[in-house]
Amino acid sequence: MKYGRIAGWGKYAPPKVLTNFDLEKMVHTSDEWIVTRTGIRERRIAGEGETTLTMSVAAARQALERAGVRPSDLDLILVATSSPDYLLPPVSSMIQDRLGARCGAFTLVAGCTGFVYGLATAQQFIASGAYRTILVIGAEIISRNIDWTDRNTCVLFGDGAGAVVLQASDAPTGVLSFVLGSDGAGAKHLMVPGGGVAMPFSQRVVDEGAQYIRMNGREVFKFATRVLAQAAIEAVEQSGLTLNDVDLLIPHQANMRIIEVAARQLGMPMDKVFVNLDRYGNTSAASIPIALVEAIQQGRCADNSTVLLVGFGAGLTWASAVVKLGTLEPARYALWRSIPIRAKARARAAVGALSMRVGAMLLPLAQRARVTRR
Ligand code: COA
Repeated sequence: MKYGRIAGWGKYAPPKVLTNFDLEKMVHTSDEWIVTRTGIRERRIAGEGETTLTMSVAAARQALERAGVRPSDLDLILVATSSPDYLLPPVSSMIQDRLGARCGAFTLVAGCTGFVYGLATAQQFIASGAYRTILVIGAEIISRNIDWTDRNTCVLFGDGAGAVVLQASDAPTGVLSFVLGSDGAGAKHLMVPGGGVAMPFSQRVVDEGAQYIRMNGREVFKFATRVLAQAAIEAVEQSGLTLNDVDLLIPHQANMRIIEVAARQLGMPMDKVFVNLDRYGNTSAASIPIALVEAIQQGRCADNSTVLLVGFGAGLTWASAVVKLGTLEPARYALWRSIPIRAKARARAAVGALSMRVGAMLLPLAQRARVTRR
């Protein structure tokens, strides 16, 4: 059995920042309400010309570069999103084309939980031996499905993309265990009613504002606090580890109070919980990969750290995964390290000898130039 080592990671956040103070001018809300009820202070909003495709490609290119993998090396691209550029074609194929990859690609829809579903799916392709190198993306432009006059939803979400490259490895790294959950009975609590085949796009959709996200915040809150800790515990048990072995909990970044409840239920101190929702809000399927990338970049994960990913979202769905990170150094250093010591010593000696010979050749020229100047 092969493991899917996380060999590269990348993220993209649109430059446009929308603060709570900006929102105060748009709807009847306040920075104080948003911060105390959610923990969010600002979020990124995609600008003109930015789409799920462009953001995904930006995050993917970083992840590929970090992994030292060319797009042509990819065996599969898997994109988790609920906000694709079009209903058809799948944005995953557009990403494959833009990257210049020659492999299969598909889009996976599991609400905010999509990235963890994607990671678990990718791991299966690697474990079975079918594929060796897979790009998993979580990307979302929720802002285009938001009613910017609805204070119940518009303060919560933001846009962004995160990506990882999984590479087959014999060492037990990557996704060690996972839990996937779904409870469609709660579907109505978080949905976009219009625009699908049940209510095709029409004047009625526009009149009813059915193209926008509708959410029963209290129900989603109750659901999230019910499933998060449980899903986390199940994944940890399946991995054969204990919660004490987890170095960092990376939960879906939806609401600080939900995260705190889950951490309390798990008995995890908040310094072992990664939070960046204050700067991004809820970026749906992009939230966990963006958080993972930032946790690595900020040094919150070391080589071989064990991280616990746990998410929830529309569906209603939930998912968790225990992920063992490998070596976090850039691929170019990893390549240097992979060269045998004797070969490196020979290379250094050859470079030294070459520079001596070049120096010896240049010395008479330099002496002649000095004589001429005198
Ligand atoms: N600014 C000011 N007041 C607001 C507001 C805003 N942005 N949004 C809602 N309110 C009001 C409500 O209208 C309500 O007023 P009322 O009592 O007069 O009806 C009041 O604040 C309290 O609403 P309530 O729903 O009890 O607040 P809450 O403490 O549950 O917080 C959420 C609301 C949405 C922040 C919270 O329920 C939540 O985070 N739920 C989960 C949502 C989520 O994570 N969704 C994404 C899942 S992937």
